[in-house]
Amino acid sequence: MGRVDAEHYSTTLIDHFEHPRNAGEMSDADASAYVTNPVCGDSLRLFLRIESGRVIAASFLSSGCPATIGTSSAATELLPGATVEEAEALTREDYAAAVGGLPRSKLHCSVLAAAAVRNALAGWRARVEPERDSAG
Ligand code: FES
Repeated sequence: MGRVDAEHYSTTLIDHFEHPRNAGEMSDADASAYVTNPVCGDSLRLFLRIESGRVIAASFLSSGCPATIGTSSAATELLPGATVEEAEALTREDYAAAVGGLPRSKLHCSVLAAAAVRNALAGWRARVEPERDSAG
């Protein structure tokens, strides 16, 4: 249990960084998204399994800083069980809170998780609800 708190990461974030949950590709994902932060180059690929309008599993691959990896890992624990609407409503503040908060200089890192979830679910909706507008 090394102390890696030079940037005042919470112990929860350090635990997620050192022991990422649900890390890896998901071969049978129903939704996925790839997002990058053009400023620092951090990236996140998120995979979701969705059944009956509910997220039932999530996994991720990330190349990035501890805050990106930590919030991505926490997101994969936060999402299962949520309805698609509940998952869409989660904000970067929710992902930051899930790791016990982030240092001010790292607040932007939680944007990747929020953007990946939103993009993955938008793609999923576009596939399963293609006639929504025209049926309206
Ligand atoms: Fe850029 Fe973390 S340093 S997302």
